[in-house]
Amino acid sequence: MYVPASDRYDSMQYKRCGKSGIQLPILSLGLWHNFGGVDTFENGRAMVRYAFDRGITHFDLANNYGPPPGSAEENFGAILKQDFPGYLRDELIISSKAGYHMWPGPYGEWGSRKYLISSCDQSLKRMGLEYVDIFYSHRPDPNTPLEETMMALDQIVRSGKALYVGLSNYENKDAAEAIKILKELGTPCLIHQPKYSMFVRWAEEGLLDILEENGVGCIPFSPLAQGLLTNKYLKGIPADSRAAKSTGFLQESEVSPERIAIIQKLHAIAEDRGQSLSQMALTWLLKDHRITTVLIGSSSVAQLKDNLGILNNMEFSAEELETIELVLKG
Ligand SMILES: NC(=O)c1ccc[n+]([C@@H]2O[C@H](COP(=O)([O-])OP(=O)(O)OC[C@H]3O[C@@H](n4cnc5c(N)ncnc54)[C@H](OP(=O)(O)O)[C@@H]3O)[C@@H](O)[C@H]2O)c1
Repeated sequence: MYVPASDRYDSMQYKRCGKSGIQLPILSLGLWHNFGGVDTFENGRAMVRYAFDRGITHFDLANNYGPPPGSAEENFGAILKQDFPGYLRDELIISSKAGYHMWPGPYGEWGSRKYLISSCDQSLKRMGLEYVDIFYSHRPDPNTPLEETMMALDQIVRSGKALYVGLSNYENKDAAEAIKILKELGTPCLIHQPKYSMFVRWAEEGLLDILEENGVGCIPFSPLAQGLLTNKYLKGIPADSRAAKSTGFLQESEVSPERIAIIQKLHAIAEDRGQSLSQMALTWLLKDHRITTVLIGSSSVAQLKDNLGILNNMEFSAEELETIELVLKG
């Protein structure tokens, strides 16, 4: 029987999410890859247990995570059932989302009230939960009024199916508008989930300011650029990598020789700092006070262990930051 480590809150750092009452661990674990029906259940289970033992209280899911879609939520539900008896539910922040394609027909994706509410019900059933802590609109829908999508999120909270709401992949204008509507509805936006890493930086062009002005937290996804910002691809594409797997979202074409050259230079800077490249890439995001937590993925306990090493060195000198910028410019 799994007994959580008694010292699980001793070393992790927690940061307030925007101006809310919620604090999140600076590292959160996402279940997009490696937790689906095609993956080894016991490996996923070991990662969730290890993460929780080290103070990672936040687990991020979505209706479509798998493959097949829905299977990550089912597997996570099975892990909760086996290892996390009822009293531990109050120590967890579990999120899910709806936005991408989930079932056939006109009501199985995007941002209608019909889709969001049915999808939330399905997610709860798959995970065996009464509520999620955060429910997200996974992407803006250009063909549904923002008011409808935000009213659906508000209704999900008011009906007790979620405690907070979030936005993901909303760019500046839509994010600002959605945040305003949610505030007016009385269900303030807790958090925004953009793609953000050393390689993908659009969030710096206004979004982070909008979030700070409105007291909304920020949880960057793919902070390691799906594994590119680690030591994984320094010498080509290994067989056990996301880029090599047919079910992985990282395309082989993204592992270009130009990219590898940059990654090698970043790796050398990380080595000089006494860190792994993944640790440096994560702390590089967390140096900005507007970032609440970084949402990592993982395919093994060893990777989690490596990434938790950020807690040992989170400072950058001005010179290091400048060198990193130069390298990133190519
Ligand atoms: N809102 C959205 O639209 C959206 C979209 C994408 C993701 N997300 C969320 O963000 C989470 C994280 O996304 P992501 O998985 O792309 O994040 P990521 O942290 O950028 O990439 C994770 C991958 O990097 C590799 N890795 C991690 N730590 C490593 C280490 N220490 N050494 C070597 N390799 C390491 C592993 O790749 P291998 O598998 O190759 O070992 C791992 O699967 C997802 O699970 C999901 O919750 C949200």
